[in-house]
Amino acid sequence: MKTKYRQMILTPEEMPRQWYNILPDLPEPLPPPMDPETGESRIKALPEFLLGECLKQEFSDQRWIDIPEELLDLYFQAGRPRPLFRALNLEKKLDTPARMYYKSEFYSPTGSHKVNTALAQAYYAKKEGYQRVTTETGAGQWGTALAYGASLTGLKCTVFWVRAVYDWKMDRRVLMELFGAEVFASPSNRTEFGRTFLEKDPNHPGSLGIAISEGIEDAKKDPKAIYCLGSVLNHVLLHQTIIGLETKKQFEKFDDYPDVVISCLGGGSNFGGFALPFMHDVLKEGKKIKFIAAQSQAAPNLQGEYRYDFADHGELTPLLKMYTLGHTKDMPPIKGDGLRYHGCSPILSLLRNKGLIDAVAFPVDERYVFERAKIFIQEEGFLPAPESAYSIACAIDEAVKCKETKEKKVIAFNVSGHGFMDIPGYKKVLGIK
Ligand SMILES: Cc1ncc(COP(=O)(O)O)c(C=O)c1O
Repeated sequence: MKTKYRQMILTPEEMPRQWYNILPDLPEPLPPPMDPETGESRIKALPEFLLGECLKQEFSDQRWIDIPEELLDLYFQAGRPRPLFRALNLEKKLDTPARMYYKSEFYSPTGSHKVNTALAQAYYAKKEGYQRVTTETGAGQWGTALAYGASLTGLKCTVFWVRAVYDWKMDRRVLMELFGAEVFASPSNRTEFGRTFLEKDPNHPGSLGIAISEGIEDAKKDPKAIYCLGSVLNHVLLHQTIIGLETKKQFEKFDDYPDVVISCLGGGSNFGGFALPFMHDVLKEGKKIKFIAAQSQAAPNLQGEYRYDFADHGELTPLLKMYTLGHTKDMPPIKGDGLRYHGCSPILSLLRNKGLIDAVAFPVDERYVFERAKIFIQEEGFLPAPESAYSIACAIDEAVKCKETKEKKVIAFNVSGHGFMDIPGYKKVLGIK
């Protein structure tokens, strides 16, 4: 063991002051968004549904982007920086020669990494004179994070929540409402797009693609409102790089460095935020790291086709070049529903296409994943969000492989959220009465 400490913290002074933008360092230019052959230009309409500052960041060629002072203060209020833990108990239990480290995004006040971009987007929305933010949410984590960001910056917030999850996470809805948000099960009666689905099926389970279309439609009808997206886009991954940048500093203090970097991937914000600062070292400094995205077979978007597709079901967004299962694809609901999205962020898709990111997809019944989360709970003592359980399962599998090969690899994984509001999911999958 290289250090006697089980966790590494950073002081507020040591917290990074800039986000890392990988665009100038990519192996080739990122394919730009495109318009479909017919219909109005979605690209010309972008300023109507993206914040001005986020739109600038989306296409920026600056490698480092300053985090505004007031936003840093909001990050401190949200408890950043967050510790990096050495998983000593887990290593012992698995009897692995690997050294395992995990980042603790579960210390977030709303339960996940999503606050990192929620605070940024709410801060810019307020600065740009908006009074309300609208959004979609799958797991409920992003909706809660934006409700929290809106509350701290003095904005109203409207959340369209995929019905399949809204129905079993009642307490999370209450939390969003405590933050002052209004929350609709999606598809909803509030938008024209939602109504088209409800007419066919009043209990339609919804999808992130549908909820995104509802969020955009709702904001477009109100000049004082702006839509905010919780994943996929370049600026969202940019805001999330605070996770990986902190982690790199903590590895320096541990005097160690990862061979394998793992995280779960839905639209890509958590994986991107954790992995991209390390990808910089691979692209620019010749480091060798294996990156693994942990997914569900319900939505293995990294096994889809690499092509242009819409980010939403209603085709309101421009076409993005990404790995996709098709924007109208039906995908079975799972407890880790934050991973049930048809496409992967364009940045990560390009890196995947260049062979720089591996992917695994775990079975839809989620038993395999939750059984491994249970080992983590019992050895490390933290209850992960269902989505984060996928990172853990993948990290455990890699550590077990190290036992077989006797390799002393260093495995880093991100536990993107806590599962205190997901107990019904654990009960159902693990058959707990
Ligand atoms: C806790 C948690 N982790 C990971 C994800 C996956 O989303 P993304 O790939 O955008 O990070 C979600 C999505 O809701 C989530 O709630």
